[in-house]
Amino acid sequence: MSEEYQTFEPINMPLRGSLTVPGDKSIASRAIYLAAMAEGTSHIFDLPRSNDVMTVVAVVRDLGAKVKILDSNHRNSVNFDLEITGWGKKGPNPKKTSIYCGNSATCARIGMGVIAPFDIAMIVDGDESLHRRPFMRIVDPLMQMGANFRVVAQKNGKPQRSSLPMEVIGNSDCNPIYYEMPVASSQVKSSILFAGANIKGETTVVEPFQSRNHDEMLLKAFGANIKVNKDMLSVAINGPADLKACDIWIPGDVSSAAYYLTAAALVPGSKITIHNIGINPTRLGFIDALKEMGSRIEIHELDEKECLEKNINYQGEPVGDITVQYAGRLNSIVVSPDKIPSMIDEIPILAMAAACAEGESIFYGVKELKLKESNRIHAISEGLRKLGAKASDAADTLTVEGGIDIEAKRAKGKVDKDDDGVVLLKHHYDHRLAICWALMGLCSYVPVKMRHFEVSHVSYPQFLDDFNELVLESKGDK
Ligand code: S3P
Repeated sequence: MSEEYQTFEPINMPLRGSLTVPGDKSIASRAIYLAAMAEGTSHIFDLPRSNDVMTVVAVVRDLGAKVKILDSNHRNSVNFDLEITGWGKKGPNPKKTSIYCGNSATCARIGMGVIAPFDIAMIVDGDESLHRRPFMRIVDPLMQMGANFRVVAQKNGKPQRSSLPMEVIGNSDCNPIYYEMPVASSQVKSSILFAGANIKGETTVVEPFQSRNHDEMLLKAFGANIKVNKDMLSVAINGPADLKACDIWIPGDVSSAAYYLTAAALVPGSKITIHNIGINPTRLGFIDALKEMGSRIEIHELDEKECLEKNINYQGEPVGDITVQYAGRLNSIVVSPDKIPSMIDEIPILAMAAACAEGESIFYGVKELKLKESNRIHAISEGLRKLGAKASDAADTLTVEGGIDIEAKRAKGKVDKDDDGVVLLKHHYDHRLAICWALMGLCSYVPVKMRHFEVSHVSYPQFLDDFNELVLESKGDK
């Protein structure tokens, strides 16, 4: 990896035009696992070429699925298509004794649930960042089902019970459970439901707040019998499910679109449209927040007939185009804990918006962000202070006072520049922070630099290319 700094200079112009972002990482990861678990050959279209998704592809291959990348002349070069022939009822047929999940907690946590109801043992490992993520939240319910775990991780010679690497020792005699999740986590929900798909009886998960519900829709598409309670907080699967191959198109990733949509809301004169993005309400909390802060946002939902005409099947996921037009400086916002799961990955970019807004914003109930690829709330408040905003993080709260005025090109606080006039920001090897800081450099008036921007490839390798598209359109060069 290069130790050179990469600098992000202000573009000093509005963002204009339209874009299609890569496919949704969350839906893609689940679709790949389910296709691997199903009987027959599935096709998955428009998967993103992100490191996390490539990791899930490698994992299902190692577990015994047949995977073919169908890549020639793709309609959209940021994506790719896959053909997967699953292991079906026979269960995984691993080629190795370990799987490597890289930076992806989704890959590791869901993978554990996939393995749990079969008589196989598999060491689950990942990169250094994944070694720091908590795993008891998934070990506990899977042990209640009857799976076992062997501690492999060590720190200073001491065994680390809750960290990767650890060995999952599956069990074909697992029992269904009724599990009340202590935290709203879609990864844990998916893991338990995917395990339940291969366990006899009814497995139920109950969440304190609703997290993203892609698993519910995808399991249905693959033929599972799923019951969702009216309050949307409780989901049950009747196992063993007869999972059958199916074809799925992956909508654009709303978490990737969020960077540009927020930038357009912040930069005077901007107007952009992002096409074909997943607009599942369980992921749109940041749109509601941006609207509440005063942005002008329109959503045009694709109707099912249009999709059928184009021969595209998103298997129940709502998809549409989102347009954001700059409508003046944003106002501050107060976000309550129940809203956090619907914007969990967009809190960093919303915090950037809050830093450029008028007044003090408070995000309550954000302690889960301390357990992501970095301690996000601490890293955000640290970086925003360097940019001249007032920000602080407490046990479960992030407070951001809008100190940065993009139009007037000034900040309330001191901007902490190096001798070269550039602000050095740390992403702590967290892809979302890296992209947020880059965007602050590009869209505000203060140049920003960081090392190892390639960490952004975890979710969005083409971020800068796509950003440049909007700049070119704005210049009228396209
Ligand atoms: C994800 C769920 C969220 C999110 C992560 C992806 C998923 O994590 O932060 O980036 O694909 O299910 P939690 O489920 O732990 O909140």
